[in-house]
Amino acid sequence: MSGAGSPVVRAENLRIGFPTQNRGETVRAVDGVDFAIEPGETFGVIGESGSGKTTLGRAVVCLLKPSEGRILHGGTDPYTLSASELRHRRRAFQIIFQDPNAALNPRMTILDSIREPLDIAAEMPRAERDRRALEMLDRVGLRSDFAQRYPHELSGGQKQRINIARVLTVRPQLIVCDEVVAALDVSIRADILNLFADLQREFGLTYLFITHDLGVVAHVSSRIAVMYLGRFMEMGPAEALTRQPLHPYTEALLSAEPIPLPSTMRGARRIILQGEIPSPTDPPSGCRFRTRCPAMQGICATDEPEWRELTPGHFVACHFAGSVTGNSR
Ligand SMILES: Nc1ncnc2c1ncn2[C@@H]1O[C@H](COP(=O)(O)OP(=O)(O)OP(=O)(O)O)[C@@H](O)[C@H]1O
Ligand code: SF4
Ligand SMILES: [Mg+2]
Repeated sequence: MSGAGSPVVRAENLRIGFPTQNRGETVRAVDGVDFAIEPGETFGVIGESGSGKTTLGRAVVCLLKPSEGRILHGGTDPYTLSASELRHRRRAFQIIFQDPNAALNPRMTILDSIREPLDIAAEMPRAERDRRALEMLDRVGLRSDFAQRYPHELSGGQKQRINIARVLTVRPQLIVCDEVVAALDVSIRADILNLFADLQREFGLTYLFITHDLGVVAHVSSRIAVMYLGRFMEMGPAEALTRQPLHPYTEALLSAEPIPLPSTMRGARRIILQGEIPSPTDPPSGCRFRTRCPAMQGICATDEPEWRELTPGHFVACHFAGSVTGNSR
């Protein structure tokens, strides 16, 4: 558990590589990322498809082991723990995925599904496990008669509520929310986001909120990191990052964002990103965004930009940050 004042999670030079079928070639899905998430905050991670967001989330909850660098849970490297301590520790770090069906067994009743993490932990008597599962069903806004139903009788939003109840049973400290509203009907997304906010207040939860939807992340996050090809390009307070982006990639994401981003968050210039994300097996030299950057200069191909703190808590990796983005010109 995290001690007073220590981050719930810290990543230090975190790298996750996946070997490919070509000998000696590695997909560098997460390629040197540093951050700390404080208790009770919602840390948003945004980026295009393939930028490494899910890989990062899976590493945070110990579903993937770092290839290099490390993850610290409340100051402790979970991989230094014994197997049983690690199992116990992992309960405090949960993940919910985009597909509401992924964690639900179609042959299990809703009550059995919600109780399952407690059954696996095997630390409470059955009656107590049932009681807590029913309590969580209520907490996520579903009536008790849902308990004996099966997943196919529920809507996508109701199933996502069940997934939230499931992870809450084990009283987590942090929940990684990986595109948790992306598969849901637009009309119910706000309800589910509000539920996350209510539960955060009630249980003191910390969230790592992963999405490609800037509208969602700006709505829920206190801080946002912008990920590209396995690295953070920018990280800062949500308000500052969306109103005055420092990195050309962030600016492009903001300018391309359709409704529902408020107009105050949309850049005046509309920048259309050209081309595809390069292969994460062989990222470009220098700045890895340079092949798509409208502000690219010679130095960008040779020198990797430093991770600089331009204003308190607002970091960026761009040689010309502060002088190339539309908001600062
Ligand atoms: N198990 C795996 N084996 C090999 N490559 C993988 C594996 N998981 C992810 N990758 C690769 O790592 C890179 C990052 O993938 P990841 O799923 O983390 O991206 P993402 O940002 O979550 O994308 P999306 O927005 O589409 O969900 C991609 O190139 C992906 O193909
Ligand atoms: S370092 Fe160069 S290529 Fe990279 S974002 Fe900045 S201006 Fe663009
Ligand atoms: Mg993903």
